[in-house]
Amino acid sequence: MEQYRFIQNELKCEGVNLRDIAASCGTPAYVYSKQSVIDHCRWIENVFEGIDHLSCYAVKANSNKDILRLLAHQGIGADVGSMGEMHRALEAGFSSEKITFSGVGKRDDEIEFALRNNIMSLNVESEEEITVIGEIARGLKTRARILLRVNFDIASETHPYITTGTRKNKFGVSQALAKDILLRAVRQPYIDILGIHSHIGSQITQPSTFVAAAQAIVQLVHELRSAAIPISQVNFGGGFGVQYRDYVRHSLLPVEPENSEANVTTVNLLSAVLPTLRQANCKLLIQPGRSIVAHAGILLTKVLYRKKGEGKTFIIVDAGMNDLIRPSLYQSYHQVVPLFLRNVPHEMVDVVGPLCETGDFFALDRSMPKVERGDYLAVMCAGAYGYVLSSNYNGRPRPAEVMVDGNQFQIITERESIQEL
Ligand code: LLP
Repeated sequence: MEQYRFIQNELKCEGVNLRDIAASCGTPAYVYSKQSVIDHCRWIENVFEGIDHLSCYAVKANSNKDILRLLAHQGIGADVGSMGEMHRALEAGFSSEKITFSGVGKRDDEIEFALRNNIMSLNVESEEEITVIGEIARGLKTRARILLRVNFDIASETHPYITTGTRKNKFGVSQALAKDILLRAVRQPYIDILGIHSHIGSQITQPSTFVAAAQAIVQLVHELRSAAIPISQVNFGGGFGVQYRDYVRHSLLPVEPENSEANVTTVNLLSAVLPTLRQANCKLLIQPGRSIVAHAGILLTKVLYRKKGEGKTFIIVDAGMNDLIRPSLYQSYHQVVPLFLRNVPHEMVDVVGPLCETGDFFALDRSMPKVERGDYLAVMCAGAYGYVLSSNYNGRPRPAEVMVDGNQFQIITERESIQEL
């Protein structure tokens, strides 16, 4: 069960009225449901029941310390993309043998930090990187465990900026080069090869895209084994899409048009791909980010002004693209709903922020119940790539973060002050 729903006309997170949080903590503010984070994590773990696996939460999706602690407590691992994320993950209680390190441009000091902390593996992206890791490992008198990220040239239906698995993208090495690179790496004295890594993109909603990637991986694993390259792990990455449209429903809300995300769940996507991946006959790793935290979070904002434009109405709110950049950067769709629903006519609006950019919007040409100055709105499904991508652009303090647990809520990150800017 999802944790955000209208009870009568009031939007609730778990047992708390979101209007109470807005009134007491101010806006803009991110709100997270603790139970939602736990549930999404467990749903994924249940799909793997009986399978040798490790889910490593992609810390980049939401690196709030309380959320990291919560996930570490679930016993899963973490995938980090920088020394900063590694530090945060270790501090939150993820054990080092469950941490993987991904990224196309790891710095020497980051590699050293990873090796000194004896993390489980580094997902490497080039032959030169393997050489550098080998040298740093030799200097530390240790061995580095690596997986080679392979780019299988698989197009996905997601936004071009978050497609990573085609040959035009900077990620991984081509399938044609993988075997030779690994044959040379096998001979390196300070490198242990664990297997193959792949991550084809983010917000992928078609099971067939994942299945194509899995088939390519399994075929490569068989080829590599025949060349006596040891493969004990396949890391399938993340990218499992989530439903953004029509997330909360109520008879007073407009019905959103049919779309390809309807009924997408990580459980369905994983269930479709696991039978193929299991043919690799080794430990399976995944690195889900969005699919664990997207539905857990919302961005609360307040209507500052209504303004009549040419043929449309602008709803100007107190959150902006500096708080949540996804609509501006990827034209992402987020449902925007009033926290309290009145029986009023629907109107076509642009929901826009206060910044000096035309790209500063949350929704364009959207049908919404009529709202007034002072009303609170929720930008739904903002738990992933929300606060982590926020900035101080236009001299704006970052928003507060609030955690809901049952009937309670507490501020887990204070709103930045003007003095801190
Ligand atoms: N593993 C690797 C190596 C990654 O680069 C990523 C995300 C993930 C796992 C997690 O992917 P997820 O399960 O969250 O899709 N800012 C964009 C998304 C960027 C994704 C970057 N890499 C957005 O807001 O849509």
